[in-house]
Amino acid sequence: MAVSRRNVLLLGGLGVAGAALGVPTTAVNAKSASALADSLMPRPFRTEFAQAPVLAADDPLGRPTIDPVDGKPIKYYTVTEQAASAQILPKAGLLTPILGYNGIFPGPTIDVYQGTKVELTVVNKLPRQHALDGHSLDTSTHLHGSASLPQYDGYASDITRPGFQKTYKYPNFQGGRTLWYHDHGVHHTALNAYSGLAGQYHMHDANSERLLPRGKYDVALTVSDAMFAANGALGYDDNSRSGLWGDVILVNGRPWPVMKVQKRVYRFRFLNCCISRSFRPRLSTGDPLVMVATDGGLMPTAQPVREYRHAGAERYEFLVDFSKYRTGQRIELQNLSNDNNVDYDFTNKIMAFDVVDEPVDTSDPTWNRIPTALVGSEVMDLQESQSTRRRHFRVKRDDSTWTIDGETWADVIASNYRKVMAEVELGATEIWEFENSSGGWFHPMHIHLIDFKIIGRNGRAPFAYEKGPKDTVYVGEGETVRLLMKFGPHKGRYMVHCHNLVHEDHDMMAQYQVGESADPDPNDPMTADPAVPAGTSSTTPSPSPSASPTPSVSPSATSSPSVSPSPSPSASPSPSMSPSPSPTPTKKSGKKSQTKGPRAGR
Ligand code: C2O
Ligand code: CU
Repeated sequence: MAVSRRNVLLLGGLGVAGAALGVPTTAVNAKSASALADSLMPRPFRTEFAQAPVLAADDPLGRPTIDPVDGKPIKYYTVTEQAASAQILPKAGLLTPILGYNGIFPGPTIDVYQGTKVELTVVNKLPRQHALDGHSLDTSTHLHGSASLPQYDGYASDITRPGFQKTYKYPNFQGGRTLWYHDHGVHHTALNAYSGLAGQYHMHDANSERLLPRGKYDVALTVSDAMFAANGALGYDDNSRSGLWGDVILVNGRPWPVMKVQKRVYRFRFLNCCISRSFRPRLSTGDPLVMVATDGGLMPTAQPVREYRHAGAERYEFLVDFSKYRTGQRIELQNLSNDNNVDYDFTNKIMAFDVVDEPVDTSDPTWNRIPTALVGSEVMDLQESQSTRRRHFRVKRDDSTWTIDGETWADVIASNYRKVMAEVELGATEIWEFENSSGGWFHPMHIHLIDFKIIGRNGRAPFAYEKGPKDTVYVGEGETVRLLMKFGPHKGRYMVHCHNLVHEDHDMMAQYQVGESADPDPNDPMTADPAVPAGTSSTTPSPSPSASPTPSVSPSATSSPSVSPSPSPSASPSPSMSPSPSPTPTKKSGKKSQTKGPRAGR
């Protein structure tokens, strides 16, 4: 039975924090968020690590495999959004209903090489309504980290209804990086993404392939949190629109898994896929995580850190050198947490690594390489003196609504999608500041289209681990961040929002415009290329199928052999189309105690 939105919000109001304005100013410890019987709850380090499968490209079916305009290769992919069940909980057969791309969480990894364009068709075969709150399961798919044209950027209101599909075109001209695709459906992004609509997208390039471990030593970590209802379904509680803090940590959809590692260097692509929670990861040995890449790819210089702050949607790539550990040693990836998260008994752990005695291939030069100098990028070469304008935005809560300088997405809708928070010239370099004067919450702010360079935090230098290309920035309690960015290469309207998705939905999202507005705009995000009924062929097949030799790309484009054909982890046994049973949003009235003070290392 569906629970009404009103009830969900009421339950939210009785959440862990309980305070009228949601979470308190320091992290809180509580027993559990889940209503599931203790004996059925997952516990750390009892399940084996696995990664999502790599998505196979579609047969081009007569479509061009080379873009006639610029000679770039094109690959075609399809994912189907569907309701399914996943074996997340330890008891065999106690399944959790999810919504997933191809029915799995995380969705399949899309693995491409820089310079190969992608056309991704997303088919919405979801039930008409979400089982939890009855909202319409209209979706919009955003490839986070891609400089896509506005109509392919997952513009929140450019929805694809159940029974429809949309083909998104991704240019992939940017430097290699870890991107991710996730639902961005207007006003329901939090619950949709939490239900499972998220997956990684890896773009390789020559530099990252040369400098960093590849294949099975290049490992995706999609980290999220969840809470469970008594029947094993996902629970949902947004604490009066402050955020959701689950008591179970999932890595690639599995609770606190254990990964076997050889005595060598590994590359980890850590995506914080939580809708609200931020992490402060560290290794139990106290050894460094060697940061090599941020949201937009390689940093100019590697930065070893013992711990760091990692909010939703940020991607940090780090190297870990397991060569110095002994066989059988277990190294934990722990979470020290940050202010304004709600912590439970086991949220201080993320996953573990067990060192095994497999022979290491020392002919691979990356086996023991911890590079220092990496590569620069256009954005990291930007200088403050190049900026022609500074803009300042204050993010805050106005009653029950979160705003960016007082603006919300409801204002954008009311303006028929014309209202913008900033108009910038194509090619202009500007400084944008985000000010969070509150001590009560943090906001990961995300600007679509561009990469930025963080040039200041409260008048000081950014953290060492942030000295790389970014598209999402942790705006912590009482912080003001300064960002330097160059706008392009497209004109058009792009979203800016908080990536605490509960904040985004209520209603901390605005848009800015690059270049003068055209009317009609050939790249209007709402009208340029809307969804079509499912099953419509997206491009008229050319009559001659001989025109489709698969472009030869470097073999590394299809790297990650470890993950390709292997069956997905918690990947649902049956991506059945049956409507998911209704998750019951309940919560134990958790015992809680103030534990965390302000954290050091700022
Ligand atoms: Cu990851 Cu606008 O989103
Ligand atoms: Cu926020």
